[in-house]
Amino acid sequence: MASLPRAKQLDAAATAEAGMISKVLIVMAMEAEAMLLVHNFKLDEAPAHESIFPKDAPWIRYHGKYKSLHIDLVRPGKDIIFGVDSVGTVSAALLTYASIQTLKPDLIINAGTAGGFNAKGASVGDVYLASDVAFHDRRIPIPVFDMYGVGARKTFATPNLLKELNFKAGKLSTGDSLDMAPQDEEIIVRNDATVKDMEGAAVAYVADMFSTPAIFVKAATDIVDGEKPTTEEFLMNLRAVTATLELAVVKVVDFISGKHISDL
Ligand code: ADE
Repeated sequence: MASLPRAKQLDAAATAEAGMISKVLIVMAMEAEAMLLVHNFKLDEAPAHESIFPKDAPWIRYHGKYKSLHIDLVRPGKDIIFGVDSVGTVSAALLTYASIQTLKPDLIINAGTAGGFNAKGASVGDVYLASDVAFHDRRIPIPVFDMYGVGARKTFATPNLLKELNFKAGKLSTGDSLDMAPQDEEIIVRNDATVKDMEGAAVAYVADMFSTPAIFVKAATDIVDGEKPTTEEFLMNLRAVTATLELAVVKVVDFISGKHISDL
């Protein structure tokens, strides 16, 4: 704080003292998902020469003030070789780790699209707050390692947020594939998941390691146990559901602004 001007120091100190949420980190995997929020919150992209990330990392950060909050939105950027969004658990964990270390957020929001399960009541466009996360593609059939692999954990509970915003609650299962292999399906069912994504449990693992509360906002682009092939349905609905996700995240952030962590 020593390098901040006096008024800013007092500001920051007052906020910290009151225990209010002041720094929110939004972690998103895809550029298309992230950019609507960047525009909505009027965030600026941090220039490469001022990056908080190692210089060879393709990770991108946007930041700005919104209501009472300082928002950092990070995405893993494009794969250095293939030029597509670096989706999946490896990039998500690395990015979350680096962001927590430097930004020290009060709260993490991992937002993105997901596949939903009709058998658990999901429809395209539904927005879920994940109550629990787990992995479904880390099979280690040795006692205790099996549980480590699945890595089931409860997310930070936000009963007031859930009630106020009327989102659906459900368990989230994470794996590194868009499709669902039969062995994955077995574990997804065991995980009692309503939605499946490619980042959530990895973000949760890192957030828990550094005792940072994290919430998971997931909007369903496709119905995994539906009639349509996943890839086709995902691509067809991506644009519309991304707009739904944007509205949902804005509502979450509006709710959070001016609140304590214990108010959520
Ligand atoms: N993101 C959107 N749809 C998904 C699916 N079916 N599986 C994993 N991640 C997704």
